[in-house]
Amino acid sequence: MTSAPAVERKGKSEAVASVEEIRAEFPALERVHAGAPVAYFDGPGGTQVPRRVADAMVDYLFHHNANTHWLYPTSEETDALILRARETLADFLNAAPEEIAFGQNMTTLTFPLARGLGRDWGPGDEIVVTELDHHANVAPWRALARERGVVVRTVRMDVQQGRLDWRDLEQQIGPRTRLVAVGAASNALGTITDVRGVVELARAAGALSFVDAVHFAPHELVDVRDLDCDFLACSAYKFYGPHIGILFGRRELLDRVDVPRLDPAPDTAPERLETGTQNHEGIVGAAAAVEFLASLARAESSSAMAERVSRRDALRRTFDALHRRGESLLAQLWNALASMDHVTLYGPRPGTPRTPTLVFTVRGRSTNDVAIDLARRGLFVSNGDFYAATVIERLGRGVDGVVRAGAVCYTTTEELERLIDAVKRLN
Ligand SMILES: Cc1ncc(COP(=O)(O)O)c(C=O)c1O
Repeated sequence: MTSAPAVERKGKSEAVASVEEIRAEFPALERVHAGAPVAYFDGPGGTQVPRRVADAMVDYLFHHNANTHWLYPTSEETDALILRARETLADFLNAAPEEIAFGQNMTTLTFPLARGLGRDWGPGDEIVVTELDHHANVAPWRALARERGVVVRTVRMDVQQGRLDWRDLEQQIGPRTRLVAVGAASNALGTITDVRGVVELARAAGALSFVDAVHFAPHELVDVRDLDCDFLACSAYKFYGPHIGILFGRRELLDRVDVPRLDPAPDTAPERLETGTQNHEGIVGAAAAVEFLASLARAESSSAMAERVSRRDALRRTFDALHRRGESLLAQLWNALASMDHVTLYGPRPGTPRTPTLVFTVRGRSTNDVAIDLARRGLFVSNGDFYAATVIERLGRGVDGVVRAGAVCYTTTEELERLIDAVKRLN
């Protein structure tokens, strides 16, 4: 029901479609602003959407739109599409379809889950959060802690490195820890955290783990089995899909977590976490976004063109190749900005575990000034604290925050050159 793969597989050398082929999929890239083609560096806030994702959503709304679980064709088709979407998102995260629940967004999925998990916790119990995290992975746990008298421990960030202070992490997790909430990648600094290591520490202490993969999922292939985490959430609008959130939970936990639900609604996982009528077109679109990413992978050799590659294998190839491209784009931007006296860079250096998301400030200019100036040249960057307020506070950046430019699958070296030139002129 989705349109045919629009990315042609012509060359043999690269494991993934060329950036030109990828760009042809995104109508938003045709936009011109103040006479210049728009370069979207706001991917960390939300990516653009390929045509096939929008087509899949329109196809659903025009031809299959219905509520679930009735005995006529459009309702049956809706059930089938939702099931297929769970299978697709399960491939994306290396989970089972019954372990995938949909919801409005990561934040809205996390609040009731936190309440449900913490019903039996009380004084003497502890939850560990981190300074490096987006507040969506802090506020739900703090709210629960306030209600139940649970202590929240906050792992410090090493400001120089832009990483979690590992020694502090080891000290904060202990026998009283019930849950560790950790981000896989920082949306403010691009830092990738060793989530596997964090989960190991949590498990050794008998605690649950909740991973925020919202900034990680567009850049690195998530593998919940490898991470060994209990819960993980991400948002399709950060990886070329519509505005919808996805929650993974271990089957046995999703079966029994005491989330609020209506009595007549199914009490089986994952539906028991999905209150009310879901965003069917968004669910279909999220699956189409995963299909889009899988469609970018090329066969390894021309003789293997006909080879049947599993969706997970295709995703692995896509992410491996996009990761390498991202590293090179980040190095280009970092090295150019680092050579400018009037620019300060924050976060881990290229070549360390990080995403191609870079934040900076310009001497003598507010971040609003910088963002407005760049926007006039068709260069769309975000600025502020991105709800990672503690990171920005620890950097000493106060209310002004930082400017953020992120590279994603449609970013070109030419766009980065335009950005570099424009920042150079801000001196
Ligand atoms: C790292 C991170 N976590 C959580 C969120 C919140 O996600 P959502 O908007 O899906 O609630 C964001 C959004 O920017 C994010 O970047």
